Amino acid sequence: MSTPTPPVAPQPTVLVTGAAKRLGREIALKLAAAGWRVAVHYRDSVVEARKTVADCTKLAAASTSFRANLANETAVRQLLPSVLDKFGHVDAVVNSASTFEHDTVASFGFAALEKHMRANAGAAILLSQALHSHLKERNASGAVVNLLDQKLWNPNPDFLSYTLSKAALEAANTLLAMELAPRLRVVGVAPGLTLTSHMLSPEKFEALHKLAPLGHSSTAADVAATVAFALSNPSITGTTLLVDGGQHLMRFERDFSLM
Ligand SMILES: NC(=O)c1ccc[n+]([C@@H]2O[C@H](COP(=O)([O-])OP(=O)(O)OC[C@H]3O[C@@H](n4cnc5c(N)ncnc54)[C@H](OP(=O)(O)O)[C@@H]3O)[C@@H](O)[C@H]2O)c1
Repeated sequence: MSTPTPPVAPQPTVLVTGAAKRLGREIALKLAAAGWRVAVHYRDSVVEARKTVADCTKLAAASTSFRANLANETAVRQLLPSVLDKFGHVDAVVNSASTFEHDTVASFGFAALEKHMRANAGAAILLSQALHSHLKERNASGAVVNLLDQKLWNPNPDFLSYTLSKAALEAANTLLAMELAPRLRVVGVAPGLTLTSHMLSPEKFEALHKLAPLGHSSTAADVAATVAFALSNPSITGTTLLVDGGQHLMRFERDFSLM
């Protein structure tokens, strides 16, 4: 008589938003290397999203890309169902996509506030809500990781609407963790200056990256490793891991891009 083969656990599946480029791509690759099947979300960067999909597929099982403008509520509400149509189940969401446009107290208006709030806070809440409902149907548990920013602990008024939207997401991180436990864990990961922007020269970026108690801020690999840790540790919820070389312990009058 042959011994029955034990059931094979389905491969864990994660949706990473903004995964075409930069930190989102690094997170997607790290999770694929750790055995996750990755749903790669993007908005405009279709070519880069295809590359992330191909690279994740080489590391784990077939990955796929999904397009959505996270400022559009209908598009956000369709995103998780689209991933479920393709993969059958989802276990985690990493909210890395982020609108980052400059405004100040002087230039502030409702349009900028709403644009940032929708994409950076509202979408993360809707995706958590959708993941929780799906996990409940499966009687399973899972996790959400929200990408925050060390500047919430070391504030300056530059990029006002972006900062307000990340502050809202940080509050949501706590509230969602309270409301959606025990099925869903919700963890924040707050990088320091990690990747440069079009507003910084390479020399300026290098100098600012060193401006931290540890003598360096975070690398993309450090941030991705922390996201992987947050997803794998079953006892963390409702808190934020700052990955910034201690930049949040310092005091900066301006945003890095304007220093
Ligand atoms: N990079 C850093 O040094 C740093 C520092 C502190 C915190 N963080 C946080 O870490 C996360 C990742 O940082 P990053 O620098 O990789 O981000 P990023 O390059 O500024 O943005 C990542 C992606 O977000 C997507 N996105 C923006 N608005 C969107 C919208 N309305 N709908 C859908 N997608 C949208 C874009 O996708 P498409 O290109 O496909 O349009 C973009 O490629 C962010 O949450 C950021 O706030 C980063």
